[in-house]
Formats: sequence, C-alpha cells, structure tokens
Amino acid sequence: MPEYVDPKNLELLFSPAMIGKKEAPNRFASQPMEGNDGENGGAVSERTLERYRSLARGAWGITVVEAISVTSDALARNNGLVINRKNLDSFKRLVDEFKKIHPEGILLFQISHAGRKAGPLSRKAGMYDDGSEGLEILSEKRVEEIRRNIVEGVNLSAEAGADGVDFKLCHGYLGSEILRPANQRNDKWGGSYENRTRFLFSSLQELKALHGHTDFIIGSRISMYEGIRGGCGTVAGDSVLEDLTEMKRLIAGMAEAGMDYLNVSAGIPGYTSEITRPTNQSRWFYLHHFRYCREAREVSGNMSLIGSAYTILKEESLSYGEENVKNGLMDFIGYGRQSFADPLFPAKILNGEPVNYCTACSGCTKLMIRQVNDGCVIFDSYYREMLKSTSKR
Ligand SMILES: Cc1cc2nc3c(=O)[nH]c(=O)nc-3n(C[C@H](O)[C@H](O)[C@H](O)COP(=O)(O)O)c2cc1C
Repeated sequence: MPEYVDPKNLELLFSPAMIGKKEAPNRFASQPMEGNDGENGGAVSERTLERYRSLARGAWGITVVEAISVTSDALARNNGLVINRKNLDSFKRLVDEFKKIHPEGILLFQISHAGRKAGPLSRKAGMYDDGSEGLEILSEKRVEEIRRNIVEGVNLSAEAGADGVDFKLCHGYLGSEILRPANQRNDKWGGSYENRTRFLFSSLQELKALHGHTDFIIGSRISMYEGIRGGCGTVAGDSVLEDLTEMKRLIAGMAEAGMDYLNVSAGIPGYTSEITRPTNQSRWFYLHHFRYCREAREVSGNMSLIGSAYTILKEESLSYGEENVKNGLMDFIGYGRQSFADPLFPAKILNGEPVNYCTACSGCTKLMIRQVNDGCVIFDSYYREMLKSTSKR
C-alpha cells in the first residue's frame, strides 16, 4: 500500500488557482466526457443540459465540456455535439444554466474533429494512409478548411459565453494525427516538425489576435505518448518507443505562443485504451500520467497544467492530488469516469458527504461503443437500463 497524506488535509485542492487570466475556485477538473446525447444535428439536448447542471452543482473548479465537433461529418458519436451558428443558442443555454448554479466555475468547450475516429454516421478521414479500410485521405485544401472550421468553432464558443476552449490534440482525433511523426505526407501539413505543427500554431496565432486582449482561455489537451508506431511521443515515423523530446518542444512552443493551459493525457481510446484510462488490471498506469505531467512541467512556462486519469485511484486520488499539486507537477487534477460516477464529487468531499466512487467497470465505455446515451451504469439507473437493453446488439 503506497503511503499518502491524510485525505482530510486537502488545503491545496480546495485553494483557488489561475488559468489564463481567470481564477478557478479549486483544483478539481471534470474532464471532457462524451455523453452522446445531443439532439439531431448536434444541438445541446435536455439530457446534455442536465449532465452539466449536475457538474455545476458539484462545484468543480474547471469543467471541460465534451468533444464538440466543428463539422457534422466528423463526429465520433452518432449523437455528438456540433457547434455551428444554427446550434449556438443551445450552447448559450448550456453556459447560462451552468453559470446560474456555479458562477465562479470555469467552463471550457473542447473543440474537435474526430478524423479517423469518426463514428458510423460520419466519414473517417485521416492525414495518411496506413491501410485502414474506408479511410478518406484529406486533401491539403480540406485540411485548411477544417482548420478554418476550428477557428470558427472557437469564436462561436466565445460567443456562447464559454470561459475558454480546449483545442483537442489528443486521443487519435485529427488534431493528434497531424502532429505525429508518422504524418509524413509531402505537403504543408506533413513531414517536418514545422509542417506538422502548422495546423496548431497558425490557428493559435489567429486566435490570439482575436481573443488575446480578453480573458478568454485558450488551452489544449494532448496525448503525450500514444503508444502506436510513429504516434505522438515517439522519435520517428517507424518507431514505437517512447521519446518525449518532440512533445516537449511542442509544449514549449505552445507556452511561447501564449497558450493558457495544457491538459496532459495519453494513449488512444480503442487502440491503446488502458494508457488513456487505467482499469483495475492496469491500475499502475496512473504513474505514467504523473510522469507525463512532470515532463510537461519542465517546459510549460506560464501555462497551467491539468493532470489526467485520477479516477482509478478512488479516494486515494485526493491525497495523491494534494501531493502532486504541492510538488508542482500540475495545478489541477482531472477526473473522467469519476465525473460520470458522481458529478457532485468535489462538493461532497468539501461537505464531508459520502461519495459514489467509480468502480472502473467499463460500463460507460461499453455504452460509448454501442453508440447510445452514455453515463454511469452503476450509480444511474437510466444508464444501467441502457446497458441491459443494448446488451444483445
Ligand atoms: C465514456 C467516455 C467518454 C470520453 N469522452 C472524452 C472526450 O469527449 N474528450 C476527451 O478528451 N476525452 C474523453 N474521454 C477520456 C476522459 O476524459 C479521460 O481522459 C479518461 O477517462 C481517463 O481519465 P479517468 O481515469 O479519470 O477516467 C472519455 C472517456 C470515456 C470513458
């Protein structure tokens, strides 16, 4: 049993911290979690609203709204959210309702394009051919159009009233595929480091020019190491070995370009899933997440850092979180599945109430794969029934 500090002694976790020019009331971050419950066309539904109202009641310091696609043909989930002019009022409502309950909580929108992780109702699209069936290779022009869509998605998020955005560069979505050493296409989006980071840095430059004078937060979530050949965090297109040199160069570049925060994740769900979300069998993978934050911190300049994959640690996550913040590894501790299991988690800890701890049963992952509404199958009967009723599919 590892040693850890007394869970009652959580002064740092309940102290405020800056993220960009704004202050978060505590160090708990609810990570983006796709609920797959948008309306037809990707607008926020009543079920989506209720999930974010619950998180607001939970008093998380930061709440990152799940992957929101910038085009309706690039959705990982059949009922995923899409931000566009038509759906904007529904996103405004999400912000209003969240802020009514938890005005000081920081609310970020994760802006994404699913790329080759697109679901059955979308088109799988990638940067390079790896033999995957049915994959459309995006043209140089199409990548630029998607980049423009992303900039527009960020601007719409600001218009909706979000505190900021999370530029999704993780988990095998298009943003991370572009960065990979394996992306050796020979146009302006592939090959050299400069070409592979052009998508990010040219967007960032535009966004800083538009929003830099305001307190709008611009950050990103990366997979520090994807665990695939030529993936992020490897040294070359044909290597699977972890080498963080290029990722650290990227992080230093983000800090220099004025990015406000970095959410450090790893792996690719569906390929190297357990790196992303440790299970009971692979519990110790959380140690890699701590290490990735320490590595990121060495070059992260003024950016705030959010750590990932705390769920598997259950109650121990609190003492480890306190210790990690104290030691400067990260500023915020991020929970994915725990935010499904108990959206009220931080508020309950603060009030000394019993918590529903995630059992890491993988039920939410099963619902995700089945393309139905997603949530906790242990503590919420709606999702428990959903799991039962779809088990024969
Ligand atoms: C059902 C489900 C949906 C998820 N949706 C997203 C998402 O929209 N964006 C994202 O970056 N990560 C997503 N993730 C990953 C989580 O944010 C988180 O990184 C992962 O679950 C590991 O953290 P945990 O161990 O605290 O759960 C999802 C994970 C699950 C299980």
